[in-house]
Amino acid sequence: MSENALFAPLPEFSRQAHVSSLDAYRALCAKAEQEPEAFWAEQAERELHWFEKWNHVFEWNPPFVKWFVGAKTNAAYNCLDRHLETRADKPAILFEGEPGDRRTLTYRQLHSEVCRFANVLKSRGLKAGDRAIIYMPMIPEAVVAMLSCARLGVTHSVVFGGFSAEALKARIQDLDATLVLTADGGWRRGKEVRLKDAVDEALKDCPGVKNVIVAQRTKGQVNMTAGRDHWWHELEAGVSDDCPAVHLDSEHPLFVLYTSGTTGKPKGILHTTGGYMTFVVSTMKWVFDLKEDDVYWCSADIGWVTGHSYIVYGPLAAGATCVMYEGAPDYPAWDRWWQIIAREKVTILYTSPTAIRALIKQGDSWPNQHDLSSLRLLGSVGEPINPAAWEWYHRVIGKGRCPIVDTWWQTETGGILIAPMPGAIALKPGSGTFPMPGVLADVVDFSGSPVNDGAEGFLIIKRPWPSMIRTIWGDPQRFEQQYFSRIPGIYFTGDAARRDKDGYLWILGRVDDVMNVSGHRLSTMEVESALVRHPAVAEAAVVGKPHEITGQAVCCFVTLKKDVSSNHHDLAQDLRKWVAHEIGAFARPEEIRFTEALPKTRSGKIMRRLLREIVTSHTVTGDVTTLEDLGVVTKLAAQHDED
Ligand code: PRX
Repeated sequence: MSENALFAPLPEFSRQAHVSSLDAYRALCAKAEQEPEAFWAEQAERELHWFEKWNHVFEWNPPFVKWFVGAKTNAAYNCLDRHLETRADKPAILFEGEPGDRRTLTYRQLHSEVCRFANVLKSRGLKAGDRAIIYMPMIPEAVVAMLSCARLGVTHSVVFGGFSAEALKARIQDLDATLVLTADGGWRRGKEVRLKDAVDEALKDCPGVKNVIVAQRTKGQVNMTAGRDHWWHELEAGVSDDCPAVHLDSEHPLFVLYTSGTTGKPKGILHTTGGYMTFVVSTMKWVFDLKEDDVYWCSADIGWVTGHSYIVYGPLAAGATCVMYEGAPDYPAWDRWWQIIAREKVTILYTSPTAIRALIKQGDSWPNQHDLSSLRLLGSVGEPINPAAWEWYHRVIGKGRCPIVDTWWQTETGGILIAPMPGAIALKPGSGTFPMPGVLADVVDFSGSPVNDGAEGFLIIKRPWPSMIRTIWGDPQRFEQQYFSRIPGIYFTGDAARRDKDGYLWILGRVDDVMNVSGHRLSTMEVESALVRHPAVAEAAVVGKPHEITGQAVCCFVTLKKDVSSNHHDLAQDLRKWVAHEIGAFARPEEIRFTEALPKTRSGKIMRRLLREIVTSHTVTGDVTTLEDLGVVTKLAAQHDED
């Protein structure tokens, strides 16, 4: 498919869409650009409940922004209480566990669960301003945990269940959390993922944690530390479900989500309440064209930002019915997702290119056995979607009828910044198309000057938007340096992009040392730091290597300490396991390559560019005059041919 392939919205889709023409989209953008205060105030008033209105809409002291200054609101109130009058008996969550167990929670039931559990938290002494870690499988209790914290103003940080005890520990410590919400375990490909064991391991070095509340999921054997650990169901028994939502400042910290940066230390991205909620609920309508009858399914894990914004806060604030599935797409067979879609009559599916590529590989017969005719819109997130994956998703899953919204955003942006409004914008496979209203995106060179159409440059956002990162938890200097120093006062995304002659934006990938593995962000430095903690490793350099399914895979170049005389095959296995132990299974390297020395500049900086070239093309070109030892590079490049 060429870059010029254009898929205009089908008239029957446009007719019913929230934004139904290019002119309507342009009118929204014009209003948001020219009168941002009026535009966002209108959105906030229409989409959310406020206990008290703001004094002014935003305050911008670069790099710090505040939205709906002086207002009082509550994210959980907006996701639950607000719907009780009109949607109390509407399903909020259609849950399916991997073993096949199912549960439906209506808005009334979810409200009641959240109020009860918030009362449990209150009785344990938790209050606004405290911090909680949530380390749970994809079960409704995870949503209850998030919303209960939000109801009280306890700032939560969800740690993806695939992270190791080490990674969990670092996050608990950085956040000074006093509460951990977890489960005995979860189900993944028929095996128990033992979460409570990891919590026990992490808490050996976290004396600040006073309470651990454990939801029972797998009924596996776990250790409970007296005084500290409690069963969720025991604490909850007999507790009242009357728990008024706390009136919180619009800028109250809703959550911190850790993500990889360019150093070995993950960054705690802080999002607050009023602006974040306004933006995520707005994009539910603009991008997903959400309607009252939709059955919406985002297949992400709540441990990532996609889960926060588009499983929990966005859809629930918009009053949607959401499918939630605990397990793997291939368990017990590769048609699990298609079964769920057919049974629940899912209308909107939001997933990642990695998942799509993995599903393509299994052949069309899996989806073709099921009735997917309920689908009306498809979404993609996390990484660029290649044209072949786009075409399959469109033809085999969407039967040529469903628009695909390719959504570009980041943990830091809180919500979708670039994506088509499906009733208004003609799609180009692989392009995120145009920015959301009020999002002033541009493509610039090193000096911040816009580049010509068709040229590559850095993607920047010129004006703050409501769900923008507020700071890095505990590190405002790093926040400023990371996002606002390249061009002072302007948000630097870290992605390269290109705008074509029709104004469409094409995201080209990261310009820093961040890899994207299965749509998950991973820093090369984080993996390198893990590797050099291994007793056999002297030095390590890590690069992303193109991968057919996961987009990128982790490839490590390792030099060993002098006295290490281990069998390389066994050691490579050991190092893979080590990285999984230090970070999490999803970071397990695909390839370990041993080398005598790493290519470095004269100042000692590892030249990852060369290593990237080696793993991508198996050749080295470009400027190597700053290399300390050219022989090293040629040897590494040649090694491939010998393998
Ligand atoms: O490089 C971009 C890529 O994922 C990065 C953000 O990763 P993370 O914070 O983990 O959030 C992922 C889910 C929102 C971006 O800097 N990325 C995300 N979406 C797309 C994308 N690259 C191309 N196209 C996308 N649709």
